[in-house]
Parts: sequence; C-alpha cells; structure tokens
Amino acid sequence: MVNQHLIDIKQKALKDFHAAKNSQELYQFKVQYLGKTGALTEAMKMMATLPKEEKPLFGKQVNEVKAELETAYTGVEATLQRAEIDAKMLNEKLDLTLSVNAHEMGHEHPIYKVTNEIFSIMARLGYSLRTGPLIEKDYYNFEALNIPPDHPARDMQDTFFVDETHVLRTHTSPIQIHSLENEKPPLRVIGTGPVFRVDSDISHLPNFHQIEGMCVDKKISMADLKGTISFFVREFFGPGLKTRFRPSFFPFTEPSAEVDCSCPICKSKGCSLCKQTGWIEIGGCGLINPKVFESAKVPYPEWQGFAFGFGVERMAIIKYGVDDIRHFPKNDVRFLKQFSQN
Ligand code: DAH
Repeated sequence: MVNQHLIDIKQKALKDFHAAKNSQELYQFKVQYLGKTGALTEAMKMMATLPKEEKPLFGKQVNEVKAELETAYTGVEATLQRAEIDAKMLNEKLDLTLSVNAHEMGHEHPIYKVTNEIFSIMARLGYSLRTGPLIEKDYYNFEALNIPPDHPARDMQDTFFVDETHVLRTHTSPIQIHSLENEKPPLRVIGTGPVFRVDSDISHLPNFHQIEGMCVDKKISMADLKGTISFFVREFFGPGLKTRFRPSFFPFTEPSAEVDCSCPICKSKGCSLCKQTGWIEIGGCGLINPKVFESAKVPYPEWQGFAFGFGVERMAIIKYGVDDIRHFPKNDVRFLKQFSQN
C-alpha cells in the first residue's frame, strides 16, 4: 500500500505542474515539491517515525514518486518553453529596414593584378623577381645602360632630377645593372615597379609602372627573345591579339625592337588610343648591348642576353579595353570595382 501522504503530495504536485502558466512558475513548483526543503524531502523525514520493517518500502515509494514527478516536470517544461519561444517569435520583430554601413571587400588594384599575372607567366619560364630603388643614381639609370651624360638618348626621357647625381628612375632597366653586378649568370630576372617621367596625356602618366625582363645565358639570340615574348604575350592576352616586332633603337640593346599589340578598343580600325594606327606599343626589347656587360663587368661574349621592358598600364589597357590611362591613378571605386573577382 502506498503511503497516503505520498499520494497526496504526488497528486497536488502534478496538478500544480499542469496548472503552471509559464516555465518560471513551473520551476517554483519544482522547488516547492522536489527542492532541498520541498514537500518530498520533508516526507522523507517521516521515515524516522516509522517501524523498522516499513522503512525500506517507504523509501522505495518516495524514490518512485520523485522519479515520476521529475518526468512530469520535464514534459511540462518542454511544452511551456516551446510555447514561450513561439510567443516570442510572434511578438518580437526585427526592423530590417535600418540601413547599415556595409564594409566592402577590397581587392587588388588592376595594375598589381596585371603585374602578378605577368609574374606567374614568367615564373613558369624560370624567371624570378627583383626590385630596385625608385631614386636611382644617374649612373644606374643612364650611364651603365650605355646612355652617357651627353648622349642624345637622354632626350628620349624627360627626367625628374632629385639632385645632380640622382633621378627618379625613368625606367626599370637599372634593375638589370643591379642584378648583373650582384649575381652570377645564368640569370632570368623580372623587375617591376613605378617609374617616373615628365609626361602626361591620354596615353602617358608622369608616374606609371614597368615590368622588365632579362635573360643572361650562353649563346642567346633574337630567336630566344622573340620566342619568349611571343609566348608571354599569348599567355597574357590570349590567342586573339596580334603581336608585332618593329626594328628600333635603345642604347642598352643591339639589335633593338619595339613590341606592338593589335588595338582591342577599335579592333585595329584606328582610334585615339592607338593614334589611328591599329597598333599599341607595349614596350621595347633587344639583345643586351656588350657595353652594358662591360659596365657591369660580366664577360662578353661568354655571357650573352636579351632584355625587354613593358608598360604595365599599357598591358592593362589592352587586356581590359580601358579607354584612358588616367583612370588608373584616380582610384575611383567605380572603375576599380570592375576588376574585382568578388
Ligand atoms: N627601358 C626602356 C624604356 O623605358 C624599355 C626597354 C627597351 C627595356 C628595351 C628593355 C629593353 O629592357 O631591352 O623605354
């Protein structure tokens, strides 16, 4: 026979549990019946007053009632909590119209995107990267490249002079000399970075970027040069654009050539960018002049080489069909965004 007092506690507790209006009230009932000073704990104290033989049965019954109440509590608690969440969802509203300052993802500037693409193509041919100072000694920018102080070639580049013997480098070709002086051939180097000239119009900036390549090895010929540049141009622009080599003159190469690409803006029909020629010049190239080897104290003809220097902005213009070189330094986000991969 179950102790009547226990039956009373159980029934009252179940009634209260089911009548609880919310989980907080339910918890109060739990404390009231199952807590440390709750009704069931108090009931346990009755045990002391019972005859010895009734004690085990009473203890068992208390435990059974406790387990039953705990199960009931868990069930009611789950029901109440679910209802409370539902009510919260119905009553609470998120104001999604509030405007936020979205942080946009940044990305590479098109000039660096193009530079990196060029690196990765040239790296496949075994070239590795070099840099050089932006303020160059006159010697590295001109003299060592076979452009002596009174040489008419100095007129080709309108230079920003820093002082009597230093200039803002007008091209990346001085990197060739640093590399020849400091390293042992065979060499395959790529140099890059900003260069400076007193020049500004639809196709020229006073501060633009160049990419320089130099290969020094045994028995180098124009065929090696043309093969390397043709491969590079094809990989960079895709097979759709045409390339041509025009005989030219640079003091640091002999023979020299200029490299042109067919104009993508007018599809070679003639426009202001290609000056109505259908072709855009991307840079110069040639076999390294023995005078340059002599300046850098590299034995010639034991070692021979070719070099090339391209304008990075030009390459970007041709690849992406940009109509004005002056877009690059402006950093107008509407322009830059068009080069984002995000
Ligand atoms: N330095 C030349 C310029 O700025 C470009 C150039 C021409 C670089 C021929 C070279 C080269 O390495 O071989 O116009």
